[in-house]
Amino acid sequence: MCGIIGYTTRKNNSVEITLNGLKNLEYRGYDSSGIALFNGDKIDIIKSKGKISNLDEKLKQHDTTSCCSIAHTRWATHGEPNETNAHPHHVGKVTLVHNGIIENYATLKEELKAKGYKFQTETDTEVAAAYIDYCYSQTNDKLKALVEACKKFRGSYAFNVLFEDEPTTIYATRKDSPLVIGYSHDGNFAASDISAILNYTNKYSLINEGEFVKITRDIVTFYDKDLHQIEKKSETATWDAAQYQKNGYDHFMLKEIYEQPKVINDIFDRFYNNCSYKDIDLTKYEKIHIVACGSAMHASLVGKYLLQTYGKIPVMVEIASEYRYSEELITPSTLLIVVSQSGETADTLAALRLAKEKGAYVVGIVNAVGSTIAREVDKCIYTYAGPEIAVATTKGYTSQVAVFATLALIAMEEKGLLTDEMSKTIKEDLTNVEKNINSVLENREKYLDIAKDIYKHNDLFFIGRGIDSSVCMEGSLKLKEISYMHSESYSAGELKHGTISLIDKGTPVISIATDDKLFEKTVSNIKETKARGSYSIFVTTQNHGDDFSEFADKTILLPKTTDFTQPILTVVALQLIAYETAKLRGCDIDKPRNLAKSVTVE
Ligand code: G6P
Repeated sequence: MCGIIGYTTRKNNSVEITLNGLKNLEYRGYDSSGIALFNGDKIDIIKSKGKISNLDEKLKQHDTTSCCSIAHTRWATHGEPNETNAHPHHVGKVTLVHNGIIENYATLKEELKAKGYKFQTETDTEVAAAYIDYCYSQTNDKLKALVEACKKFRGSYAFNVLFEDEPTTIYATRKDSPLVIGYSHDGNFAASDISAILNYTNKYSLINEGEFVKITRDIVTFYDKDLHQIEKKSETATWDAAQYQKNGYDHFMLKEIYEQPKVINDIFDRFYNNCSYKDIDLTKYEKIHIVACGSAMHASLVGKYLLQTYGKIPVMVEIASEYRYSEELITPSTLLIVVSQSGETADTLAALRLAKEKGAYVVGIVNAVGSTIAREVDKCIYTYAGPEIAVATTKGYTSQVAVFATLALIAMEEKGLLTDEMSKTIKEDLTNVEKNINSVLENREKYLDIAKDIYKHNDLFFIGRGIDSSVCMEGSLKLKEISYMHSESYSAGELKHGTISLIDKGTPVISIATDDKLFEKTVSNIKETKARGSYSIFVTTQNHGDDFSEFADKTILLPKTTDFTQPILTVVALQLIAYETAKLRGCDIDKPRNLAKSVTVE
């Protein structure tokens, strides 16, 4: 939620560079944006409602010569997304941008009002600026003012702060929201993530919780919470700027869909060649808890199916925002697996911290290298899917499913459940995965054809059984996120317990039947919807033949593989249906309304 960047340089192009960086953070929120720049020794603030391109236009009317600026792209939490509530916020000598939420802002606001402070906005961030200003007026020391103010703040924050009496210096700190420091030839950065600065440098350092940083164009100084200076080593980013380009695709989402064959193949390759997590003893635990949000939770449901069915280990999947308040579930003998593409999701992070506090062992399945979750878990399994820019996840999700497939294999090996014959079949399947995903990606026309059938409808149903039922949930979410069509995902057997009353003449139903032993059952459920007039889109595997005209208006045939890759093939088809539908509906596919990719608030 929200992206921030600050840059101080020996040149006078900080605005251009800050703004370019901000554009790479737009996935974090995009309802308004703003920039504060030192114009000599005074600070100018320019803000705009809507996407960063609006701010860009507005800046054309300003003199933007500046060697130090901070900027923000917002996902509104407090106050509607208008220009007044947009960041940066300025109070007294302090101007700042903030990613996070100050939960006790209302109390602090009253305290500050009593001291004579007046407020212009509805935001928690303006209160933070005022509190830092107040502390500065008391201490006359900028770092001490920050430390004192942060002691008062409850909630999460990453701040870039300017003091008007110290042009060209940025102060920064963080708690529960990400922030990295970047070092370039001409100056230094503080940004929400590395993508914002990769065009200028790949050298960076991570700021730990509760550390403070003073950034000038020549030197960056780090302090601990007691303001003792600390040394930091710089790291080199492995992702490069080219990965943040669309490379000829219409949308990042489409590009990322097409990256899946290689990403998934790489995961299985690493598993067979240099697996770094085969040492996790899954059999030691009576039950595994898997916790995540959104699509990562859907990937966890597929993981549960694989670990239970093949690894014979009981698994509980829980949404992180619920699990974080269920401490009675966690004991020192719990194995918790947290799953997160961004590695920053606030609820998932809170769940992991709670579990660690209770003595549980925590494994992370994470994409963003060096992210908070990756750093705090006992053992991190990286998916290495590369940067995912589109807000709706695709390769993030499938790479998590692929890692779960490997964990199920590890459990089977550990328990002696993997016969030579099974091992051979699964290995062959994992080796062919790139070819098989590519065959699902071929002939996009068929997905467009289905999209044309459904895009004018307002309601749609996904049904499936077993592993397909979890994949349906992800297919339904993809469609809702990017096309704004309402859809529901139901276990096929559950539909008749109420929901079937919504099926009417022409209601589209996408049904999935890839599991041979449940095929007939699912087909019966499809026929039940057909009898009520549904428009039936059927997704199944090639081994079941090719004539389903009795109950299907359209069919997608997938290669038949094992359960270790089948859900990946199925979801790729559903991703493309969602993509083509959203395109026909004229939606902003990469940046759907109201969403943000990285949810760093509760
Ligand atoms: C947001 C995104 C979803 C994502 C979820 C969890 O809601 O829009 O696409 O699945 O967060 O994110 P994570 O980074 O933890 O996987």
